[in-house]
Amino acid sequence: MDRIRIVGGPPLEGTIRISGAKNAALPLMIASLLTSETLTLENVPNLADVGMLLRILGHHGVDHSVDGRKPGAAPEASRPIHLSARRIVDTTAPYELVRKMRASFWVIAPLLARMGEAKVSLPGGCAIGTRPVDLLIMVLEKLGATIEIEAGYVHAFARNGLVGAEITFPKVTVGGTHTALMAASLAKGHTRLVNAAREPEVVDLADCLVKMGARIKGAGQAVVEIEGVASLSGASHTVLSDRIEAGTYALAAAMAGGDVLLDGARADLLQSALDVIEKAGAEISVTNEGVRVRRNGSGIDPVDVTTAPFPGFPTDLQAQLMALMTKAKGTSRITETIFENRFMHVQELARLGARIQLHGDLAVVEGVEELQGAPVMATDLRASVSLVIAALAARGETIVHRVYHLDRGFEHLEQKLSGCGAIVERLSEPA
Ligand code: UD1
Repeated sequence: MDRIRIVGGPPLEGTIRISGAKNAALPLMIASLLTSETLTLENVPNLADVGMLLRILGHHGVDHSVDGRKPGAAPEASRPIHLSARRIVDTTAPYELVRKMRASFWVIAPLLARMGEAKVSLPGGCAIGTRPVDLLIMVLEKLGATIEIEAGYVHAFARNGLVGAEITFPKVTVGGTHTALMAASLAKGHTRLVNAAREPEVVDLADCLVKMGARIKGAGQAVVEIEGVASLSGASHTVLSDRIEAGTYALAAAMAGGDVLLDGARADLLQSALDVIEKAGAEISVTNEGVRVRRNGSGIDPVDVTTAPFPGFPTDLQAQLMALMTKAKGTSRITETIFENRFMHVQELARLGARIQLHGDLAVVEGVEELQGAPVMATDLRASVSLVIAALAARGETIVHRVYHLDRGFEHLEQKLSGCGAIVERLSEPA
């Protein structure tokens, strides 16, 4: 299994190009199941999760092709993907596929809306606490589906099609909102979502659905109105830039010090995180190209942060912020409100010398003078990258094991960091 070796110390100086957002690309790819025509997606990041989802969609009958490389384009440049679900060949998503990637549960919505039936395995446990799907099932039931849960599968039927409804979410759910947007787009009549997720990735999906002929108003606000249509068509859409990747490298620059331009980062999607990074002592400026992050000489100031749905501080940056706070001049308090048990990085950060106490959903981080490199283990996607951030500022060498977690969500991580002067390399082992 591959490992990543990091020698801490050098500041980050240079430019990092921000990729397309994984959390937008996955639901957009799943939306291809809604139409018999071709959906073309540009700026899809080249990640293990994307490859896995292409295989899962292929099982349902989605053909895909990837454009050739443009002459002169960088080898890592993303290439357009064409997805075509001309004929759905299977409405069952088996356990072997769904267990590999939680987001693949979302295929239930387009399969049910287009075919009147879907049978999808429950995703099962996940490293970041219980992540239920009860609200996704609630959405489908409100839209008129009959649901049977049997032997670990959710079997949904709507033989005469889905019917629009008023759906009030008891808590903000990104997955639930994606499900509702896809299913209601092909339901008969009007759907109104109340307390919908306002995340930019939800807006990106809605924008693409509108290009496919859906009638959606208010995406990005708490109340969304959808007027169902009989069928959707093909479209072409560019995946939005990854605010979590941008925030991660902004935190890395704040940790290592230096001066980094995050090319293509959108400050408007990242304001809550940029405010926190500024409070921690880095200078942030927004340029035509993206966001520039600098920290020269000054130390890191402690901050108190609570994760929240957008536009609040994202749960997907909580681990990375905690890594930064391990070297702050004082004590920080980080509260995780979205997922219980999303603190697996704490014990690994402790191996580098961090001082963190957990009290339920609160982590109290007492900054230390110095971190020291050590062997550590990646446990989930965002937790893994927090170890990389800590290692950038630790004395000596850190080896991160189980790098496949990073490959699920960070494109060309070693190249992007080493391009800015960090000492980062992948140690590949023959399979
Ligand atoms: C969540 C994050 C998203 C992040 C992703 C991956 C929020 C609001 N969502 O999205 O930003 O990118 O994780 O880390 O920050 N829930 C239920 N029943 C359900 C579905 C969800 O109780 O059927 C609960 C979850 O346990 C959680 C909350 O609702 O406490 C938000 O979950 P949701 O937004 O659906 O999770 P993801 O879509 O995975």
